[in-house]
Amino acid sequence: GADPEEVSIMNGLTINLHLLLISFYRPTPTRHKVLIEAHSFPSDHYAVESQIRLHGYDPETSMICLEPREGEETLRTEDIVKVIEDEGDSIAVIAWTGVQYYTGQLFDMETIVQKGHSKGCYVGFDLAHAAGNVPLRLHDWGVDYACWCTYKYLNSGAGCIAGAFIHEKHADNDFPKLSGWWGHKLTSRFQMDNKMDRSRGVAGYRVSNAPPMLCACLEASVQVFAKTSMEDLRHKSVQLTGYLEHLLKTAYPKNDSGKPFIEIITPADPAQRGAQLSIKFSVPIGKVFEELKKRAVVVSMKFISPAIIP
Ligand SMILES: *Cc1c(COP(=O)(O)O)cnc(C)c1O
Ligand SMILES: *[C@@H]1O[C@H](CO)[C@@H](O)[C@H](O)[C@H]1NC(C)=O
Repeated sequence: GADPEEVSIMNGLTINLHLLLISFYRPTPTRHKVLIEAHSFPSDHYAVESQIRLHGYDPETSMICLEPREGEETLRTEDIVKVIEDEGDSIAVIAWTGVQYYTGQLFDMETIVQKGHSKGCYVGFDLAHAAGNVPLRLHDWGVDYACWCTYKYLNSGAGCIAGAFIHEKHADNDFPKLSGWWGHKLTSRFQMDNKMDRSRGVAGYRVSNAPPMLCACLEASVQVFAKTSMEDLRHKSVQLTGYLEHLLKTAYPKNDSGKPFIEIITPADPAQRGAQLSIKFSVPIGKVFEELKKRAVVVSMKFISPAIIP
């Protein structure tokens, strides 16, 4: 969903978020806030907190963390729109997410961009769980910046190289940025004259040369994706996810039988989710883990404390 010149492959995801925020988050006494979802991925939360502190502001007063309504797991678009309407004049950046990592909620990015821009905010997205999962139209939606990793739905392997997007409209920006030699135009980069002749757009945000081993892993992944299109992939994904949902709901309904049951917290509307279903179990997760392992399913379990997971 972007022009090739709007995309750069570089660094890790959180580093890219920092590099982008250095440019897009330029707080002033009247516009110093960052809007983020309350349950954003910790790395994004910490990145935003530290950017706010870097500029001498206080996350306590400069960070708006939007919570779902009482008793609800996911955020309503109308509530996101309302907080932008109410607080937009003091929001510098809306640092939102494409697909929520925990609930699997796919946000209405176009609406968030439109609303944010109508209030003079920059709107950027972390697409860690959206890239390779759902079709994106970053250019057409007018998204200001975006970043993502390539090791979730893009299958390039843990810790592999990440991506960044800056919209063409910002290609000739004079925003503050952190520089390195890889952002210098290739035509004159090796003249080594210490006169920065920066590449246009996001290519000018590259700092270090790209690690070949990581690029090879990404290349292998991209070759698989090149065999299909995001539209076809999405079409099949909607069917498979719906089928899994049907099986789960039929086999483990919540009823009065006293049998184990599940609750799916991911939105039931296919337009509001990707290929993920987040499930709550009525039985201890350790038991589910063991049963899945017995059936040769490869699963990971985050141990909060072994003592509390039977
Ligand atoms: C996976 C993920 C990360 C991980 O960040 P890295 O810098 O790649 O370690 C950050 N944010 C989100 C939303 C993620 O899903
Ligand atoms: C409860 O769900 C089970 C399937 O797990 C089903 O066999 C049973 O008929 C249901 N009971 C009621 C009361 O709906």
